[in-house]
Amino acid sequence: MSPLSTALLALAFLLASSAQDIEDNRVNVSLYYESLCPDSVRFVVNELQPTWEQLAGYMNIRFIPFGKSWSEMNRRKERVFRCQHGPRECLGNKMQSCGLSLLPTQESQVKFVTCVMSKQDPSSAGPECCREVGLDFLRLRECYYSSLSDELQLEAEQETNSIRNPLRFVPTIVYNGVFNPRKQDESLYNFKAVVCSQIPQPPEACLA
Ligand SMILES: *[C@@H]1O[C@H](CO)[C@@H](O)[C@H](O)[C@H]1NC(C)=O
Repeated sequence: MSPLSTALLALAFLLASSAQDIEDNRVNVSLYYESLCPDSVRFVVNELQPTWEQLAGYMNIRFIPFGKSWSEMNRRKERVFRCQHGPRECLGNKMQSCGLSLLPTQESQVKFVTCVMSKQDPSSAGPECCREVGLDFLRLRECYYSSLSDELQLEAEQETNSIRNPLRFVPTIVYNGVFNPRKQDESLYNFKAVVCSQIPQPPEACLA
């Protein structure tokens, strides 16, 4: 091997191992929530978004917009979704499933979810929040009116049921795939501290 390719290999190895180190120093956070739930709104706006601002590099966030919804077959044997806060909530969940599936970065997903959740009406939030993250609303609309949106919501239902069935509280916050009642309760009012306590090498932002 030439000295140059040896050097390149060493560099590639260094970059790969540091990327792995960064990955290993992250906490996986899954948020099980629903669009019109006041506790979900409060959590996203007051806890998740400000914590993300400080700890973006230390978290992997996964949004599961479903909450206490469920799916069933109607009399015409079509699958329909039912939601705790009525049809508008189902619309908001489905719309967020589509938006999330079209947004490649966590940064844009957090921005999008925060935007939607802080608006009163999920149906009008769509165009506005798409604009905010530079997503073409027509693409979201296309997803919403296709079978893809039902599939995404079905996946969300399965994922929600696999954590707790039924979900006792919305939002439910799960770390590294394991539900923990103590972390759940504390997360609702001190999310940042709970995240920090689980970062293997916490950054300075955790000391403040
Ligand atoms: C976080 O999720 C990733 C991807 O699913 C996984 O590879 C990793 O092991 C998880 N980390 C922890 C601490 O559970």
